[in-house]
Amino acid sequence: MKDNHASPEKADNSILHIWGRSTLQGHVKISGAKNAALVVMAGALLCPEDCRIRNVPLLADVARMGQILSALGVKIERNGDILDVNATEIGQSQAPYELVSQLRASFFAIGPILARLGAAQIPLPGGCAIGARPVELHVRGLRAMGADVQIEHGIVHAYVTGPNRRLKGAKIYLDYPSVGATETLMMAATLADGETTIDNAAQEPEVVDLANFCRSMGAKIQGAGTKTIVISGVPKLHSTDYSIIPDRIEAGTFLVAGAITRSEISLSPVISDDLTAVMAKLRAIGAKIIADAPYQLRIIPGESNIATDIETLPYPGFPTDMQAQFMALLTISEGDSVISETVFENRLRHVAELNRMGADIRVKGNHAIVRGVPMLSGAPVVATDLRASAALVLAGLAAEGKTTIQGLQHLDRGYERLDVKLQQLGAKLQRIQGEPEDVEANVEVDNESAASKSTESALK
Ligand code: EPZ
Repeated sequence: MKDNHASPEKADNSILHIWGRSTLQGHVKISGAKNAALVVMAGALLCPEDCRIRNVPLLADVARMGQILSALGVKIERNGDILDVNATEIGQSQAPYELVSQLRASFFAIGPILARLGAAQIPLPGGCAIGARPVELHVRGLRAMGADVQIEHGIVHAYVTGPNRRLKGAKIYLDYPSVGATETLMMAATLADGETTIDNAAQEPEVVDLANFCRSMGAKIQGAGTKTIVISGVPKLHSTDYSIIPDRIEAGTFLVAGAITRSEISLSPVISDDLTAVMAKLRAIGAKIIADAPYQLRIIPGESNIATDIETLPYPGFPTDMQAQFMALLTISEGDSVISETVFENRLRHVAELNRMGADIRVKGNHAIVRGVPMLSGAPVVATDLRASAALVLAGLAAEGKTTIQGLQHLDRGYERLDVKLQQLGAKLQRIQGEPEDVEANVEVDNESAASKSTESALK
């Protein structure tokens, strides 16, 4: 049977069959970070010259971001994991709603466009499977920098008034350390007139990567990775050749794959400092994690997996993007675990599908009480969002019998050929072209993924 693996630029209705209980072994290569690539691509809008971005993962979301930038007049060319971007000529033309509404990261482009052109019109990113995803922190910060921002008919209209239509430095306090708001405002501030301080800023590694990307173009940014970021505006940025960080969430997902199948595997490249909370929890569950080479980690499973409580928090707390994957692991750990999702209001939708596989999970508000069971059993399941789909794959690897997963467009948004990488580690799985009605009928498609059906590659 031909491997119908969907390339990220094209969505298809493939289905993933997993035959569980195989032990994994070997080494897996970690791709570039999705959440760094997306925001660095937006950051390239700040530069009126050529930018080369390396280690860009081949993902549906990256393809979609490329489409959005092309629609704004940016020239983009993809060669393997290298993106060559030129944003010399960007227009105020509005990014197409049907794309922006399905890729939250595209909204972050409002900062660079406003900083470059003094005007921007970006559709409000819709809500998605995991929450309402408001943007008031972004808007409030831009207003503090002198932008007039109005939201009409689902479009954010932002204009910079004043003599040279240039944003001005401001002191901004974020009520919540929002990753996107920190990134939007940091990008806007690089070209503003004067100094901007962002207090209670997000500290995620992807924020630091964006800051380093902007600094490589000549931006003056201090404090990225701490709660207070200070940006001194400069008149213009220059071209750069920049390589983004490896994906800490993909790395964490593979570490959990080792733990849930009780396998010893290694992975690289990885920045272990970015995974402190994840490694601490895996060690609490009973695994050994060793750094057996530079930028490489190895997981050695414990005698058994011990129940452990998890609470998601802004970085450096436990990452919400790893919550679903750990829930899959904890379903077959010994004892009761309480998982509290404090970052998003609706990110426990994988509970129902895991329970269909024999898990014993009860939800109370934003807490999931996971009672460990000896074994999961394979079943047909449907993915609801990106990280939930990864959790179902992990559960399928550990389950007795066969698991069939639909809704793989979610997986392709954030994981580069996850099935192929797992096959190379010895997992028994196969991705088969499904019939369109097979998937459409059953999959509740959330905004963030619908475009995967219409995603054409802009990054040829
Ligand atoms: C980024 O989303 C990531 N996406 C998410 O990854 C990640 O889960 C999230 O940060 C938290 O780490 C990208 O980087 C493209 P937030 P973002 O603003 O920026 C609320 C994945 O799976 N909020 O830190 O949208 C918001 O509703 C994705 O890879 C406001 O209330 O996250 C949420 O509850 C999923 N008002 C919380 O803050 C605002 O103005 C965290 O959101 C902005 C956010």
